[in-house]
Amino acid sequence: MEVKIAVLGGDGIGPEVTAEAMKVLEAVGGRYGHKFVWGTGPVGGNAIDDFGEALPKATEDVVLASDAVLFGAVGGPQWDDPAAKTRPEDGILALRKSLGLFANLRPVKVYPELISASPLRPERLEGVDLIIVRELTGGLYFGKPKKRWTTSRGRRAVDTLKYTEQEIERVLRVGFELARRRRKRLHSLDKMNVLESSRLWREMAIEVGQEYPDVELIHMLADNAAMQLVVRPAVFDVIVAENMFGDILSDEASVLAGSMGMLPSASLSSLPPADGKPLRGGKPALYEPIHGSAPDIAGQGIANPCGSILSAAMMLRWSFGLQEEADAIESAIEAVLTEGYRTAEIATDGGKTLGTVAFGDLISGRVE
Ligand code: IPM
Ligand code: MG
Repeated sequence: MEVKIAVLGGDGIGPEVTAEAMKVLEAVGGRYGHKFVWGTGPVGGNAIDDFGEALPKATEDVVLASDAVLFGAVGGPQWDDPAAKTRPEDGILALRKSLGLFANLRPVKVYPELISASPLRPERLEGVDLIIVRELTGGLYFGKPKKRWTTSRGRRAVDTLKYTEQEIERVLRVGFELARRRRKRLHSLDKMNVLESSRLWREMAIEVGQEYPDVELIHMLADNAAMQLVVRPAVFDVIVAENMFGDILSDEASVLAGSMGMLPSASLSSLPPADGKPLRGGKPALYEPIHGSAPDIAGQGIANPCGSILSAAMMLRWSFGLQEEADAIESAIEAVLTEGYRTAEIATDGGKTLGTVAFGDLISGRVE
């Protein structure tokens, strides 16, 4: 198979981790006879510095000419002026919106080797295997009006949590379909006790749920879910939630895995078929770790590349239907962890600490 992949490293540790994912993909290509044709372009804070915008047109063109996007991370303190006209984050938000990537899949897997890296008691982590389906192109992130203004009585600002029933329905369906392929339990999160948009969300969940009688549908208030995620995380199978709820809760859920650095994500405009066949046609899907640009450790060569490498595996699985190849990457990571290798932030059990490049080398070596 020959496919085009746009690699957008972005800021901070973004380029460091995507480089390792590319290396591992090259290893997959060598072993299974695939050719990856790489494209790239600036995005985020560095793009603002050099071109005045977070997502330059040239980068967008590279993306649109690709079959999938491997994204790093954007942002950093030098671009954090609240009064700035453009922000690094505008780059990723524009990509999600323009590519129609409404479903963000964030699996949380607990590797037995990393249990001691989590602050939670080991018995709570037993049996944890969940996936968050975060709505990604609507809700509080994109609703209009979204602005700031000054009145005679001071400054004001507004963000809007707005959803159409179509937007809610399609992401709920992704949740139900995924649950059907897994342990058949869907937690639909809302704040229906307070928010009108959540009352519509719950109504839709009940309606759509009637088409999935085999899936156990559990409505849970988002604040309660935040607690349950650390108290009884093993009860969750698939979680579906509004954009902002999903953003916050996926950072929380990463604690279960021992490190944010371990978590990948896939942003899709539809769920690929259940038979393992690839996504067809349309715009490219985007794959990125859930962590950010981590400016505090950028340039030190100590970032954990697993989130990016596992995102590459998700790309092979979902965009290209390459199940065996995706499995090979995931097994390679498991093997390296089992052998006791760690990046700094997960080396809580006295494992052998490696830098980003050496860790990526080990994983790609296992894949070959
Ligand atoms: C994430 C990040 C982004 C988000 C930022 C970088 C815009 O936190 O992917 O979770 O809020 O969606
Ligand atoms: Mg986030």
